[in-house]
Amino acid sequence: MKIVFLNPVGVIGGAERVLLTMLTALNTQPNIQLHLIVGTDGALIEQAEKLGVQVTLLKLPEEFNQLGDSAFKGNSKTIAIFILLLRVVKTLPSIGKYLREFKRSLRELKPDLIHSNGIKTHVLTALVGIKDVPIVWHIHDFYGSRPLIAQVLKWLSVGVARRRHRATLGIAISQAVAQDARNTLPCLPIEVIYNAIDVNYFSPAPLSLHLTLRVGLVATFARWKGHDIFLKAIGNIVRSHPHLNVHFYIIGGAIYQTRGSQFSEQELKNLASDIGITDKVDFLGFQQDIAEIYRWLDIVVHASTEPEPFGLAIIEAMACGKPVIVSQAGGATELFTHNYDAVGVPPGEPIALAAAILDLLDKTEKRQIISVNARLTATERFSHERLHQQILEVYTHANTFLRQKKSMNK
Ligand code: GLC
Repeated sequence: MKIVFLNPVGVIGGAERVLLTMLTALNTQPNIQLHLIVGTDGALIEQAEKLGVQVTLLKLPEEFNQLGDSAFKGNSKTIAIFILLLRVVKTLPSIGKYLREFKRSLRELKPDLIHSNGIKTHVLTALVGIKDVPIVWHIHDFYGSRPLIAQVLKWLSVGVARRRHRATLGIAISQAVAQDARNTLPCLPIEVIYNAIDVNYFSPAPLSLHLTLRVGLVATFARWKGHDIFLKAIGNIVRSHPHLNVHFYIIGGAIYQTRGSQFSEQELKNLASDIGITDKVDFLGFQQDIAEIYRWLDIVVHASTEPEPFGLAIIEAMACGKPVIVSQAGGATELFTHNYDAVGVPPGEPIALAAAILDLLDKTEKRQIISVNARLTATERFSHERLHQQILEVYTHANTFLRQKKSMNK
């Protein structure tokens, strides 16, 4: 069985880490051949090749890469649609050429199943019109909160002009995302596969004692990841407890190209300076060996201001035996039990976040108990060991759905 995976970008964010875990899991299975097509250059290519996966880089047109629904932020709907239409029109010639190339590559590869891992490649699969091959859309986001994208995907998932080449099945990364996908894409059957991680790589280190405790936020620089909330919480802590032996870290970077969707490092540094905490917070940038970073931190903070579809960093840190403070909304709420294996806080509230950090800093024993429980939860619920079986089951369902659809259309 040949599976062709599609990913819009070559850089490694959460969805790409999940992709690599899936490739690793499927690679161990007999009679499975894996191929990956990516839309931009980046470390994902090398990492997938290291696993023995064949990779093709089919560079997406620059204008298409920058396309997103950010025009809707801060503009009225009419203006936003107008801006977006202009951008789409600008992409048309290059995207037409790209689609022909994309279709040719897919035909040559002769996949038994196509597994698309991002919105832009979902769109491409529907536009090229591949018949009689199951198309699985892996859904990593809440499409319902992005009305334009939801509309486009809904239209495409039903099949352009009701022809047969629509998406066959959707994989949602949490129940919350599944619920949202069922509302926005009512014609697409949705199944949930919780993200998984390699719990051998993400594993705890022996207890080490250090005087200055380290609290860190690990996330890409997407604006909704709540770096601003974290910085404000730090300000609050530093003002109320000026002599506390603690240092703060921001780990990650602005890795995507979509317009207006991310903080720049300078912007965050300016905010830290405005709050007066420049000497209390360090920016460590994107880190290759992220498990090492989790192990090095004492408390991990997740501060997303919008409902988090899943929150890979949460389970990664839990698997490393770290107490995580989780912004409690969306799929993230399904990953932990408050005060048992992590601590929940309301999203977007720096004072509540500061209080939760202070509480954990103060209570060594609570940190230790949560650490042990966190590791247990991560290995029981989010281990890579169950992944290949779940994915293969979904592929079987996708094949069945496609056969049913074909016989109905006869
Ligand atoms: C997306 C989601 C994030 C999830 C990741 C991996 O980046 O926003 O919540 O953890 O995909 O599925």
